Amino acid sequence: MSILVTGGAGFIGSHLVDRLAARGESVLCLDNFDDFYSPAVKRENISGALRTGRVELVEGDICDAALCDALLARDDVRAVAHLAARAGVRPSIEDPALYERVNCQGTINLLEAARKRRARLEKFIFGSSSSVYGVSDRIPFSEDDPVSEPISPYAATKRAGELFCHVYHHLYGLPIVCLRFFTVYGPRQRPDLAIHKFARLIEAGEPVPMYGDGASRRDYTYCDDIVDGITAALERPFEFEIINLGSAAPVGLRDLIGLLEEAMGRQAAIERVPEQPGDVPVTYADISRARRLLDYSPSFPIRQGLAKFVEWFRANA
Ligand SMILES: NC(=O)c1ccc[n+]([C@@H]2O[C@H](COP(=O)([O-])OP(=O)(O)OC[C@H]3O[C@@H](n4cnc5c(N)ncnc54)[C@H](O)[C@@H]3O)[C@@H](O)[C@H]2O)c1
Repeated sequence: MSILVTGGAGFIGSHLVDRLAARGESVLCLDNFDDFYSPAVKRENISGALRTGRVELVEGDICDAALCDALLARDDVRAVAHLAARAGVRPSIEDPALYERVNCQGTINLLEAARKRRARLEKFIFGSSSSVYGVSDRIPFSEDDPVSEPISPYAATKRAGELFCHVYHHLYGLPIVCLRFFTVYGPRQRPDLAIHKFARLIEAGEPVPMYGDGASRRDYTYCDDIVDGITAALERPFEFEIINLGSAAPVGLRDLIGLLEEAMGRQAAIERVPEQPGDVPVTYADISRARRLLDYSPSFPIRQGLAKFVEWFRANA
């Protein structure tokens, strides 16, 4: 029996693949090593897992419907963790059609392939995002809040993915869990994300951009906590659920820079820049559903998570 992890060479995907392989699961890892950031970094991410002999790497694209079908046709595949996507809010504003193709059409290809094997498939996990909440003053964000006003193409594609998941559950009875990840960080974090980008600039002695007045807040969530949530969703029986995976402890941008300075033992030069279009002022997860349904309990406070990130960053810079 094996689990298909799409985007398995990426930041979150590779941590999930490592965890599954360490538990003795067989993993089919599908990734196209796209150029959003260095493919060499992704090859490094997945190298340890490949050495376990439990992971089979398929280099291919979720936009290739025939490939998705062929992978799901394999009798041993019993679950899908679909994490492949074009991620990132700002680049989605530059190329919305690309985001729609990969994040929507790619997801539909997998759902189509999955529904034909409904009898065998135990679970389809969809990696969604806190960005679906848009600009909301109801905090913390609850899964029951309205999510019909996304403010970036990326957020719209993630919400569309959730909606298609619901359609495939309704029409075909596919058991599906959409997990809304809140700003994930830790070793292997994508180089475009704030913590990684800021660490690079601090190390190089270059100015760190502080957007707006630095008051925007993010519910930074350590990668191992996210993987705990994904594996719990894979293990437990569900019909259809949408579940937040966050820390429920938002940190202001100004404070984040201070905590990163502390973790790196270096002072940052701060450059104030305007707010970025598409960015939301706050993310803050209500994780009561995750606690109840997944026994989820995030265990990495930001200081501890940053220390682990900096240790990895220094070893891999
Ligand atoms: N990192 C976060 O803070 C965060 C927050 C919310 C949601 N998410 C979601 O979690 C998932 C993983 O994000 P990540 O941060 O690990 O990003 P990532 O870019 O590191 O990982 C995505 C992986 O998918 C692969 N991929 C992209 N397009 C593909 C395609 N067409 N076919 C096959 N593979 C493809 C990439 O090569 C990459 O390895 C994404 O769906 C993302 O939208 C991430």
